Amino acid sequence: MTVVLSSSQVAEAARILASGGTVAFGTETVYGLGADASSPTASSKIFAAKGRPVGHPLIVHLASVAAFDEWVANDVDDRARVLAQAFWPGPLTLVVPHNGRVADEVVGGRATVGLRVPDHQLALDLLAAFGGGVAAPSANRFGHVSPTTAQHVLDDLDGRIDAVLDGGPCSVGVESTIVELAGGLPTLLRAGGLDVSEIEAVLGEPLIDGTSGRSRAAGMMESHYSPAARVVVVERPRPEESDAVIAPFEVAHQPSISLPKDAAGYARGLYGALRSMDSVGVKRILVVPPSNGPLLAAVLDRLAKAAA
Ligand code: TXA
Ligand code: MG
Repeated sequence: MTVVLSSSQVAEAARILASGGTVAFGTETVYGLGADASSPTASSKIFAAKGRPVGHPLIVHLASVAAFDEWVANDVDDRARVLAQAFWPGPLTLVVPHNGRVADEVVGGRATVGLRVPDHQLALDLLAAFGGGVAAPSANRFGHVSPTTAQHVLDDLDGRIDAVLDGGPCSVGVESTIVELAGGLPTLLRAGGLDVSEIEAVLGEPLIDGTSGRSRAAGMMESHYSPAARVVVVERPRPEESDAVIAPFEVAHQPSISLPKDAAGYARGLYGALRSMDSVGVKRILVVPPSNGPLLAAVLDRLAKAAA
């Protein structure tokens, strides 16, 4: 039921989107589950396939920075355009006032839309061939770990979506950083694949932290990105026999997965590691976080949510 399309089948993937279907596709962050962002019926299929509560807003993916103006309100904050120019294509989502082109279902009736241009050639080819905006949340069952390979997508959604365009393993491995520019001060809604320090350097001002406390962005609930096994974040793993371990160093215990020491390398492997521990059916996963590097904030955030 779900067809797997290779890189030579972008035209077929675009045709499915144009006819109102659902296509999962690889980006640099995680795989997205895409549908026509201007179509209420097409975008509704995303919620059904994922089991995602209606009202949680989806990110709209665009083929180029030039398409930004086709989706935003006239009075959009100039700083959003500056960030788009600086970081797109790349792992940054900008939440800005929209002009009504996006389907209400995609934004959950909000006046703002999340926009991003992914830094992945096959995704850009698909977006260009389709020509419009593609609404795409991560291509996993609601609340589960985001997929970073086409096989992960099939593991969650086979038979529930029309196609997956295989773009290979994701190079970043955690979702995009989300910044809101909607009348107030520039606000960080989610740490992610683009380090906050880079954004602040371009803006010349600090971001307001909108990630903690009563979450303002839907989909920012505490428990999210969760494997079936219980996740416990530890500094020094003391595993019992039935536990699994994921750490930025070698561990003698089995099963264990050793990830790179730096947060960026660790991020690339984290979701695959959580998924493979689930597939061997462990009850508890002891996870040792990385200690430094860009993307540390994103990794610590995802581990906290997996453990919640
Ligand atoms: O890297 C990514 O961002 C991936 C790839 C596929 O692009 N997408 C992704 O989508 O992570 P998703 O649905 O799992 O997370 C999107 C989040 C929503 O949960 C919400 O928190 C925020 O983006 N968001 C989107 N539009 C918004 C809006 N208008 N206002 C506030 N938050 C918004
Ligand atoms: Mg998600």
